[in-house]
Amino acid sequence: MRPSTIRLSLAVLLAGSTAAAAAAKPEDAIRYRQAAYTMIGWNFGPMGQMVKGKTPWNPGEFAQRADRVAALAPQLLEGFPEGSQSGAKTGAKAAIWTDMDDFKAKMDDFVRQSQALAEVARSGDEAKAKDQFGKTAQTCKGCHDKYRSKD
Ligand code: HEC
Repeated sequence: MRPSTIRLSLAVLLAGSTAAAAAAKPEDAIRYRQAAYTMIGWNFGPMGQMVKGKTPWNPGEFAQRADRVAALAPQLLEGFPEGSQSGAKTGAKAAIWTDMDDFKAKMDDFVRQSQALAEVARSGDEAKAKDQFGKTAQTCKGCHDKYRSKD
């Protein structure tokens, strides 16, 4: 294949995937983001238990769970396409779509803090890992307080 043909195929491919994402049904986007949050919570919970001393400190497990959260965090935003305010039972407030810049900033903050958490957890420094866990948890709360309904 000539380079120009390859470039063209790639462009077609990329355009195709963007179109597919834009056409996602609201209920599918809602299910997708709830699944991602469920996986984040699944990992974040046991980390919190360790931080609070309710379960023994296990640096290997803590680092593995921190890695998972850091990998999932950047995948959340695409679960909030325009039009997915409703379509299935959701705890997402409509303010997300009217304040999208602020919502994105909060999401960026979470992504950054969760990446810092994964790094510090890998270093094995318990005190720093616990401190960074607290900072990351604050980003969950900061977003939930404003954009998640409590029902
Ligand atoms: C930038 C905003 C934002 C951040 C950061 C955030 N969340 Fe959420 N979270 C939401 C919203 C909005 C929902 C509701 C989604 C829905 O129901 O459509 C939600 C829902 C959830 C749910 C329920 C999922 C379900 O099945 O309904 C859990 C669990 C959760 N978040 C945990 C966390 C944890 C733990 C963190 C941090 C480690 C976090 N979230 C960070 C906005 C955020």
